[in-house]
Amino acid sequence: MIVKFKKNTPYIEGVNLSKLAKKIPTPFYVYSQKKIIDSYLNLYNILKKEIFYSVKANSNQAIIALLNSIGSGCDVVSKEELIRSLKAGVPAKKIIFEGVGKSEEDIKFAIKKRIRQINVESIQELETINKISKSLKLITSIGIRINPNIDSKTFKKISTGKKNDKFGIDYNDIQKACKIIKTSKNISLKGISCHVGSQIFQIKVFEKLFTKMKKAANLVEKYDIYIENLDLGGGFGVPYTKTNNRLNIIQVKKLVNRIFKNSTYKISFEPGRFIVAQAGIIITKIITTKQNSKINYIIADAGMNTFLRPSMYNASHNIISFNKSHKKMKYTLAGPICESSDIIKKNIKLPKQEVGNYLAICDTGAYGAVMASNYNSKCLPAEVLINKNKFVIIRNSQNINSLLKLDKIPKWI
Ligand code: LLP
Repeated sequence: MIVKFKKNTPYIEGVNLSKLAKKIPTPFYVYSQKKIIDSYLNLYNILKKEIFYSVKANSNQAIIALLNSIGSGCDVVSKEELIRSLKAGVPAKKIIFEGVGKSEEDIKFAIKKRIRQINVESIQELETINKISKSLKLITSIGIRINPNIDSKTFKKISTGKKNDKFGIDYNDIQKACKIIKTSKNISLKGISCHVGSQIFQIKVFEKLFTKMKKAANLVEKYDIYIENLDLGGGFGVPYTKTNNRLNIIQVKKLVNRIFKNSTYKISFEPGRFIVAQAGIIITKIITTKQNSKINYIIADAGMNTFLRPSMYNASHNIISFNKSHKKMKYTLAGPICESSDIIKKNIKLPKQEVGNYLAICDTGAYGAVMASNYNSKCLPAEVLINKNKFVIIRNSQNINSLLKLDKIPKWI
């Protein structure tokens, strides 16, 4: 856990969070630079494979730039994420672009930037990339994202590799794709890729997946297409609560070594959550306390607009109180949004809370700020990066005036 108490005062690295909370309007996200670096290096040093950080987990340019500075590439799923990564200084040759709905404009942009590889998610997209590349007189490096029909044994809403899911090219259509690739002069197949879901804890899932990917590669090679890269996706589970066991990355490494023992493929991964989830918290302030029926509600200024995971996936994140009084009470922590589902956590035991107290919502570095919204006309929160005893705002919070400017009331009203 990145929050450490020294003499009852919470710190991340050398920064006193109680003082920080008084300087920056709550709610806001805080990240530990050390934790991001440690998580990345921990993964890299075990796997010893190329890593393409999945930008969708946290797309702040400072985070992308930090990871780029320690050797990571990027995996992006939209033109906008691609622009962010380039702007953050990631070389085009270290960026992979996937995504199930790339428009012609997105594809053209990526082709012109000469990125490392576009991972194709449908037969039609193969034809579009070839057509656009031809018009630009270029040859584009592509990968095929395969839908291997594997159950990732994770939440339904974050499973992506079963045959009914919308992602990737059906395993049974690999041959069809190969025939098109063979006759398309402006695309060059560099590899195959997959991603079957997020928050995966069962090593068996990876075993099945890697075995199927090996089979898929063999199938492609039957068409005399030489495969250079095998992108084995992301999805490494992160323990948010005591009930999740950490996925053992050493076991993943052993699997790779065993299954791809005699292969010469360049293997890579594209994790997001594993690298940034535990490096972030949200600091939120209590605005109201009340009892409805028998429930002790604490209403904080961070809600589903700030952090969507609890209401969208029933995700459970630990809550830490900045005050450490001994008297503990059972609370339900809710946000300020006018929705019954705007609950951050039910039935938590916390020291007695009062209006103005600060809480930390833990492990919110991944799929946190990126999924925040303007619901109820709330402004997006600030993001802060801590490095030892320094901190810097890496994204300003929005203000209502900049939002209001986007609307236009027509003259006829
Ligand atoms: N590659 C692709 C193609 C993906 O779709 C994803 C995530 C990743 C890599 C990275 O997966 P990770 O290593 O972070 O598990 N919003 C959800 C998570 C959705 C993830 C979707 N795909 C959540 O908050 O749990």
